[in-house]
Amino acid sequence: MQATDRLIVAIDRSSRDEILRLADALHGSVGLLKIGLQAFVANGPSIVREVQDRGLKVFLDLKIHDIPNTAQHAVAAAVGLGVEMVTVHASGGTWMLRACASDATLVLGVTILTSLDDAELMRIGFTGSALDNAVRLAKLAQAAGLRGVVASAHEIAAIREACGSELRIVVPGIRPEGSDAGDQRRTKTPAAAIAAGADYIVVGRPVTDARDPRAAAMAIVDSLV
Ligand code: C5P
Repeated sequence: MQATDRLIVAIDRSSRDEILRLADALHGSVGLLKIGLQAFVANGPSIVREVQDRGLKVFLDLKIHDIPNTAQHAVAAAVGLGVEMVTVHASGGTWMLRACASDATLVLGVTILTSLDDAELMRIGFTGSALDNAVRLAKLAQAAGLRGVVASAHEIAAIREACGSELRIVVPGIRPEGSDAGDQRRTKTPAAAIAAGADYIVVGRPVTDARDPRAAAMAIVDSLV
């Protein structure tokens, strides 16, 4: 895989014009654009098609978590849009994950959100650390037939050890040296995440809020080689 292919930029915007402006600016300098809940709820599936029509691949990050039947049909609708990747919450459990597994699209199981730390996980009711829970959920997702997971850079090595080299690991919570962490808690730099074994890194605000998003994306790609 080329370094560019590994960079996924999260376009967390509501405005269609702004999303398409960012898509045009980033064309050719990123592997995929991530359309998340904000952009999708504000604009509907047409925003996915408009980004694809500009020649960009789409990662549809809906973090689906529902009963198996509902989740399965939501994933099928995403597959029908021709997206490359779609997310479901691994904590939806084995039956939901099995129902969502697809050969056509890379369905990723979200393990533990990178905005959560061990103290917050305890307040929610999880026992054990973010690391323990991410590994457990990655194993659950893989056993249910998913070919990839989303996890923070801090869990990559342990997930690789538990799940092997075939499982795709997509890593958000990425902060280039010196950039603002914002609401993210378990962060690493782009190069550190790739060195740790990430297949893809997801970067949002450090690129989309930059004065020159294309230059920011290219600087990240350059830091990976
Ligand atoms: O702006 P920032 O780089 O923090 O964006 C990270 C993106 O990755 C957001 O769109 C967020 O929804 C997503 N994400 C995450 N942690 C996960 C899964 C997805 O931050 N575990």
